[in-house]
Amino acid sequence: MDISELKKQIAYKAVDTLVHDNMKLGLGTGSTAVWIAHRIGELLTAKKLNNIIAVPTSLQTQLECEAIGIPVRSLRDPFLQGKLDLTIDGADEIDSRRRLIKGGGGALLREKICAYASQAFAIVADESKLVSTLGAVFAVPVEVIPEALYIVRKKIEKLGGKPLLRMGQKIAGPVLTEHGHMILDVAFGGIDDPRALEGNLKSIPGVVESGIFTCPVTCIVIGRTSGEIEVL
Ligand code: A5P
Repeated sequence: MDISELKKQIAYKAVDTLVHDNMKLGLGTGSTAVWIAHRIGELLTAKKLNNIIAVPTSLQTQLECEAIGIPVRSLRDPFLQGKLDLTIDGADEIDSRRRLIKGGGGALLREKICAYASQAFAIVADESKLVSTLGAVFAVPVEVIPEALYIVRKKIEKLGGKPLLRMGQKIAGPVLTEHGHMILDVAFGGIDDPRALEGNLKSIPGVVESGIFTCPVTCIVIGRTSGEIEVL
């Protein structure tokens, strides 16, 4: 099956299986997660789904929700009390213990905040994202306060990583996140202990967040190139 059609089918399956009336939902970022908003919009229009509140994890997702007409709120809205029923998001790598690398789209900070605010955290991905060892191929995105760029680079090198500053496309200079931070994509050539590395990165002053996610993943909806979709 064509990969973009597969991503759509994965997202539709996730919504149809996991989303119910009256839910407060975190909506992830990326080319798979974007279809989540489309399916929710379809179901809301058809009145097969009611009373959904969405918290987008990025401006990309917020714009999609607004265009589709899905009611959006910020996680800081007191109405939500910092709690979501479910967040559905994509991933860049998933290992057999459901640990993740995320942040290929630069939205790791709000993605992690939503994941931790949610009662359930579901991942939508095609099978190319399944790996035996995290970080053997994909570099770990690390969001950094610009002032600390030099010192964070040095500390990351001491941890065994090779950091590369993410550069913008069709704009001069580095990528700045929605929060005004820079992103280092750090090659580790395989990560033995993702939870320890997540903690070590977070403890560097100037690191805002890393794309290693070791929080519980309640559900993975995975799409095979054959077209088969499994809910794990
Ligand atoms: C966004 O920052 C990432 O965490 C995405 O969830 C991740 O890059 C997956 O995106 P795709 O579904 O486009 O591969």
